[in-house]
Amino acid sequence: MIGQGQGKLFGLMAHPVHHSLSPLMHNAAYKALGIGHQYQAFDIAPEQLGKAIAAIRTLGIGGVNVSIPHKEKVIEFLDEIDDEAKVIGAVNTIVRQEDGRLKGYNTDGEGYVRSLLAETKVELPTASILLLGAGGAAKGIGIYLLKMGAQKITIANRTLAKAEELQKQLEAYSGSPHIHTLSLEELDETKLGEFTLIIHTTPTGMWPNIEQVPLSLKGIRPATIVSDIVYNPLHTAFLKQAESEGAIIHEGLGMFLYQGALAFERFTGLEAPIEVMKKEVVEQLQ
Ligand code: ATR
Repeated sequence: MIGQGQGKLFGLMAHPVHHSLSPLMHNAAYKALGIGHQYQAFDIAPEQLGKAIAAIRTLGIGGVNVSIPHKEKVIEFLDEIDDEAKVIGAVNTIVRQEDGRLKGYNTDGEGYVRSLLAETKVELPTASILLLGAGGAAKGIGIYLLKMGAQKITIANRTLAKAEELQKQLEAYSGSPHIHTLSLEELDETKLGEFTLIIHTTPTGMWPNIEQVPLSLKGIRPATIVSDIVYNPLHTAFLKQAESEGAIIHEGLGMFLYQGALAFERFTGLEAPIEVMKKEVVEQLQ
């Protein structure tokens, strides 16, 4: 057990960092468990990233989360990255190992799927999944959906070529040929009834554009699970629309919380106090 005064320093490297809720969330967790660690936000300009990673080694920092715009670029400064982070091509968590080596992970997709499984009764092996968007977030989520047993995924994106590129990457990862693609335009009411789980991964509807939705949900079947990774606002216009169509909704805060919880567990070796972390973040967002 690590006592007060024997803590390590952890942190977040991003640019900008002033809106991040990660310091509050991690520090609340340390406090609740009586651990003397501290978590601090570091605003790192892109050209300083190499020096910032060197500072982790020099100062003996226990680990950091990495956010926009550093998630891809940071890989070249690390000693090792885990297999999923390698496939995703992005790292959001760096852990300093016992021997001082820096290892990179990506907890975003895993955090998303953990939160989906914890908060909904979805059965991934039988779900017919619609993934809206084909960017970095969709890739991380898609990989973990497949890893956790998903069999049937359709990717719909504004730019069809990007959906097809993601399709190839997911098929190469899983060996599964059951990934389909569509452009957002092609996705009309007649097709929506095929899906039992709809996951929105684009920034549409994020504050301040809170009235925007990625598509109309008219035509979904009752009790479809509709999930949005946008968490500011907590209850997006897309989720409101989903509720009015009789869907079961899954809010985006879960992904943020569980990626943080997984980072916490890698940093400390302890189980994350998820309810404490959630309370802290929800208070800030309301
Ligand atoms: P991230 O890495 O955070 O997922 P990204 O790589 O920029 O971000 O990907 C953003 C995703 O949101 C893409 O799928 C993008 O569609 P395009 O591939 O057509 O660019 C999608 N996206 C962004 N803004 C959008 C909008 N206004 N309407 C529909 N899709 C949008």
